[in-house]
Amino acid sequence: MEIIRTPVAMTAWANRMIAAGDSIALVPTMGYFHEGHLSLMRQARKLAKRVVVSLFVNPIQFGPQEDLARYPRDFDRDAALAEQEGVDVLFAPAVAAMYPEGSRTRVAVAGLTGGLCGGSRPGHFEGVTTVVAKLFHLVKPRFAVFGQKDFQQLAVIRRMTADLNWDIEIVGHSIVREADGLAMSSRNVYLSAGERQSALGLSRAIRHARQRVREGLADAAMLLREVREILTATPGIAVEYVECVDEKTLAPAARLAPGVVLAMAARVGTTRLIDNDDLFAEEVK
Ligand code: PAJ
Repeated sequence: MEIIRTPVAMTAWANRMIAAGDSIALVPTMGYFHEGHLSLMRQARKLAKRVVVSLFVNPIQFGPQEDLARYPRDFDRDAALAEQEGVDVLFAPAVAAMYPEGSRTRVAVAGLTGGLCGGSRPGHFEGVTTVVAKLFHLVKPRFAVFGQKDFQQLAVIRRMTADLNWDIEIVGHSIVREADGLAMSSRNVYLSAGERQSALGLSRAIRHARQRVREGLADAAMLLREVREILTATPGIAVEYVECVDEKTLAPAARLAPGVVLAMAARVGTTRLIDNDDLFAEEVK
C-alpha cells in the first residue's frame, strides 16, 4: 500500500491509473478505523481495480465548539488496517496542503442541509461537500463509497454529484453495528461504560420502530411519539432530534412508506451520537 501525502502526488497517481485503464473506487474517511470503515473498503475493493482511502480530519466541517482537537487519531493502526483490506493508496494530506493560505472556495448544497444534523451543526455540511468535492477532483474515482450511518451526508453528496454532473457512482453501505446494536462510530471511544449503556437507547428505539412498521403502523407522528418515549425513558440520553423523512428530499414524512427513514441524534454526556434506519429495508445483520 502506498501512502500519499500531497494533493499533487495524489492526482499524478490517479492520472497514471486512468491512463493504464484502471478504475478507482474512493472511500473518504476521517480515520480511527472501525469495522464500519473496513466494510466500506471491502465494498470498494469489489467495485474497482484500484482502491483509495482518504484519511483527513477535515477542520472546516467542525464547529468552533466541536471536537476537532480531541477527535481520535491513530495513523499507524489505520495504515495497517487499510493495508490488510488490500487498499492501494492511503491518501493522508496535511491540513495546509488541502487548505493552503488564501483558499476561499466552498461548495454548498442548498435545501438539504438546514434540517436534521444541519440544524445543530451550522456550516457542517458545507465543510463536508467542500472536502468531498476536492477529493473527487484529486482522486478521480469512478465509484465513491459512503455509509448510511451518516444518511443525511449521503443524500447531500448524491445531490452534489448529480448537480455538478460528476460521472461518479455514489454507493451507499448499510450501517455496521456492534453485537449489542450500537452503531459503530469513531466517537464511541468517548463513551464511559455507563454512557455506552445509555447509548443503546438509540438502537433500542430503532428496533422498536422496525417492529411497529412490521405490525403495519403507518402514522409517522405516532411512531415518533413512541420512539421519543423510549429515548427520554433512557437515563443519560438528551434527544436532539427524532424525525421521519424522505430519504432523498429529507422532507418530513407523515405516512410511513418505503423510502422513509427514521433519523435521530442525541447527546450522551458530551458525546453527540446519530443513528437512523430505513424502516422498510430488509433486516441486515
Ligand atoms: P467518518 O466519520 O470517518 O466516516 C467515513 C465513512 O464511514 C462515512 O461514509 C461514514 O458514513 C462511514 N461510516 C461510519 N460509521 C459507519 C458504520 N457504523 N457503518 C457504516 N458506515 C459507517 O463521514 C466522514 O468521516 C466525513 O464526513 C467525510 C465523508 C470523510 C468527509 O470529511
